[in-house]
Amino acid sequence: MTAYRYLRLEVVERVGVIQMNRPQVLNAINDELMQELVSALRRCDADPEIGAIIIGGSEKAFAAGADIGAMAQYGFVEAFTGNIIDWQAIREIRKPVIAAVSGYALGGGCELALMCDLVVASETAQFGLPEVTLGIMPGAGGTQRLPRAVSKAKAMDMCLTARRMDAREAEHAGLVSRVVPPEDLHDAALEIGKTIAGKSLPSVMMIKEAINQAYESSLNDGLRFERRLFHSLFATEDQKEGMRAFEERRLPVFRNR
Ligand code: CAA
Repeated sequence: MTAYRYLRLEVVERVGVIQMNRPQVLNAINDELMQELVSALRRCDADPEIGAIIIGGSEKAFAAGADIGAMAQYGFVEAFTGNIIDWQAIREIRKPVIAAVSGYALGGGCELALMCDLVVASETAQFGLPEVTLGIMPGAGGTQRLPRAVSKAKAMDMCLTARRMDAREAEHAGLVSRVVPPEDLHDAALEIGKTIAGKSLPSVMMIKEAINQAYESSLNDGLRFERRLFHSLFATEDQKEGMRAFEERRLPVFRNR
């Protein structure tokens, strides 16, 4: 496996386990860490020996946000033209991604967890979107995904006051699917990953896609959904007939199957 600077990647029984590792800044996400994360995720996605992926951090921090130091000097023009905090590539991962959250999941760290397909949390987990205290706002999907995951009221509260949510509240509110003692987090996430990786991959991938379709409602999702339906039409006899007829310069005879 390629060596990464800010994360570790290992494969455990068909599960790709990614551990962010930038401990000196509580896994604050700079461009390099995000590039490595996307590269590791893509690698797991492309590997037929992997059926599910876990993203975790340290005991103290899943990730304490985007790297504030790296952003502090940006002006509007640099932020806009550099398209900073464009983490959309993570959405293109097609295998299930589990966030295993211990400690701080703040700002971009919370947003990263929200981008994952399910979140398993240690009792120590703390979720928050404290960007307002920095004079900015969430920029990696927080204002869009948090209200969908919890509620408008809680999302407003967290984004406007920077109040954090602990693991229990996050589970109750629907952000987290399971809460476990800190010492069990790794095994619990791995168990979920192994269970998913033991199922049929196409079925798992389509379930992920379908649930995301229900959860998201943007043009992007509509287009992707359309493309999948388009692909499934290549399973019909009528597609073969229609294209053959075109090539043979005749009218097609469709049989509705
Ligand atoms: N960026 C850069 N460095 C960070 C960081 C971040 N997001 N979070 C923590 N660090 C660094 C600290 O600067 C500190 O470095 P030094 O030792 O060199 O001083 C180190 O990590 C340890 O942090 P603390 O000493 O502050 O640790 P603590 O236990 O006292 O507090 C904390 C922990 C509450 C998480 C606190 O560090 C904190 O509030 N961090 C910032 C959280 C935040 O605002 N996140 C949002 C970032 S903006 C964003 O994410 C935009 C977006 O939408 C994508």
